[in-house]
Order: sequence, then C-alpha cells, then structure tokens
Amino acid sequence: MNTVTVSASKNYDILIGSGLMNQLGSLAQKLGKAQKVCLVSESTVFPLYGETAADSLKSAGFTVVTFVFPAGEESKNAQTYLALLNFLAENRLTRSDLIVALGGGVVGDLAGFAAATYLRGIRFIQVPTTLLAAVDSSVGGKTAIDLPAGKNLAGAFCQPSLVLCDTDTLNTLPREIFRDGCAEVIKYGILYDPVLFSHLEKHGLDFDREYVITRCVELKRDVVMEDEFDTGARMKLNLGHTIGHGIEAKSNFTLSHGKAVAAGIAIVSRASGCKDTPRILAILRQFGLPTSTKETADDILCYALSDKKRSADQVNLILPNAIGDCAIVPTPVGQLKSFIQAGL
Ligand code: NAD
Ligand code: GLY
Repeated sequence: MNTVTVSASKNYDILIGSGLMNQLGSLAQKLGKAQKVCLVSESTVFPLYGETAADSLKSAGFTVVTFVFPAGEESKNAQTYLALLNFLAENRLTRSDLIVALGGGVVGDLAGFAAATYLRGIRFIQVPTTLLAAVDSSVGGKTAIDLPAGKNLAGAFCQPSLVLCDTDTLNTLPREIFRDGCAEVIKYGILYDPVLFSHLEKHGLDFDREYVITRCVELKRDVVMEDEFDTGARMKLNLGHTIGHGIEAKSNFTLSHGKAVAAGIAIVSRASGCKDTPRILAILRQFGLPTSTKETADDILCYALSDKKRSADQVNLILPNAIGDCAIVPTPVGQLKSFIQAGL
C-alpha cells in the first residue's frame, strides 16, 4: 500500500493498494467523532462493492444508511443532489457524521457536492472505483453537478477527509472505461513525468497499477497544493481538454470523454510542433486511443466555445514542448481555428 498526503485547506491521506476496501471502517473510525455513515453509490457499483464497504463500516461500529442512484452522467443532476440532501436530513446525519462516496467520478462529484453543502459542510471519504476517479476526480476537492446549460456548472471546492483507492476494484471495470482513464494517465506523463511516460510505453495496458496510480496522485497532489482553487498551475490538467471537449460535444457525447481527450492531446501536440509528437501519437495508439477526429476545425471550435464557463475572447491552451514540459499559453479566440487546423 502507498500513502500520499495532501496539505491544502484540509490535510488528508490518499491510500492506494490492493484489498483496502475491507479496511474502510477502521480507517473511517480513525477520523474520529462520527457515528453514522451515509454510503452513496450507484446501480452498477453498489452490487459489486456495496456490501463489502457497508460490512466494513458496520464492523467498525458505524450505523450505515445507503443512497443508491442509477449509474451514469445523467444522474449527476440537481434532482439526484436534492434527493440525497433530503435523504441525509431524513436520516438525521449530523455535522460530525460522514458521507462515503463509492464509485467513479459521477458518484464522487455528486456525493462530494452534497457533503460540501449539507449542514454547510460535513466530512466525506472518496472511494474511487474507476481509473479516472482514482487518478483525477477523487483528489483535489472539485465537486459538482451538471445543469441543463452544461457540465459541472454548480459545485464547490471541498477536500475529502480521506481517499481510499482499492486497486482491486479496477478488475471489474469494462475495458473501454479503463482505456478512457488511461488517457488521463498518459496526460500526467506528458505534463510532468518522462519516467512515468516511459513506464507506460514499456508496459502498455498492463502497467503496474499501484505505481502508476500513486505517481499520478502525487503529481496531482503537487498541483493542488500549488493552486488549490484553479487560478494558475492547475489549469495544466486541462491538456487536450479544450479541443477534446469540442469533439466530445460535437459527437453529442457518443464519443467518450477519454477518447475525445486523447484526440485533443494528439491535435495540440501536432499543432504546437512538440518535438515528442511521434512518441505521444504512438502511446495513444498503443492504448487503443484515437489520434485524430472526423470533425472539422470549425465544428470543434464552435462546440468548444459553447462551454458556458469559458470567457469569450481568450482561451488558455496547454501546449506540450516535450514529454514532461508543457506551457499554459493564453490564445486569442481568433487564432484558434488555424491552430486546430494545423493539428488535424
Ligand atoms: P462514472 O462514474 O460514470 O463511471 C464510468 C462507468 O463505470 C459507469 O458506467 C459506472 O457504473 C462504471 N463503473 C464504475 N466503477 C466500476 C467498477 N469498479 N466496475 C465496473 N463498473 C464500474 O465515470 P468516471 O469516468 O469515473 O467519471 C466521470 C465523471 O467525473 C464526470 O462527471 C466528470 O465530470 C467527473 N470528473 C471530475 C473531476 C474532478 O476533479 N472532480 C475530474 C475529472 C472528471
Ligand atoms: N480535473 C482537473 C482538476 O482537478 O483540476
């Protein structure tokens, strides 16, 4: 097992290893004070891991209530969020009690936002069960729900009290969803770490999960400690995401987020003239991820800019110079079309 410690507005540990789910109760107990736990999960993950998680919590002396919603991004909305708040209130959870988010990024974001706002904030534990959630969404305290106008438009920064990443849960992940998470893992290598990148090149999809997840989490921890509230260095985590978002939205979300981000990474690497572009394209192909798109520069631009969070005249592009060396480059919107075209 590896431990990564975050020191931000709240200090907490991220534990990564095999078989950790059984220790959920004893580790939660060490956080102190809580008597009741609301275990929040969804309809795919709960049947797989809900009983183990609940049993571990009960064995440690907690009273456990469970809130399970239908799996999928469609559930990450105001209706589910309000239903969860009402459930917490009806079950009389107090400010010293705990929420446990068991699932991928959808559960983590939604349960985290409920924890940030119920009684003006109660503690929560992230138990990520997808690769994306393990290396990205469970760490760093971004919580949110989607609004009809766009994704993640209502949310809060709220750090968890503990992240428990049991690498065994990834064994039941469908291969395509695992691949999607790999796009984010490759992203960390390109942004910060040539050694991590080389490990991924050498081992492909059979990479050492404990090492790779730990390394990604350490890298994210460093970024969050430098820029918890996302006003500077944290923007680098958006490598491939602006163009990827345009591709994903133009496909009406039929193309997965991970595949769209992979195509976005390939496009910015080519367009920026990154000297390691051949290695970046090769690793994306090795992981079964796309390096191109059928969409036009006009369409990508139009959908990328329809994001309601974006300011109108300038976009911060994250551009790779080499593996482990990327820059934030403020780019006028007027230059974006020719930039995208250069990378297609
Ligand atoms: P997800 O939570 O929808 O999980 C993907 C799919 O995998 C779902 O069908 C789920 O039921 C299934 N699944 C989850 N764990 C499983 C397991 N162990 N075995 C079998 N099936 C399993 O999606 P995700 O990709 O984990 O997360 C995407 C969400 O995360 C988006 O809503 C995105 O906005 C958010 N996100 C948040 C942050 C952040 O910093 N907060 C960062 C990146 C993404
Ligand atoms: N997923 C991007 C961030 O946490 O900032």
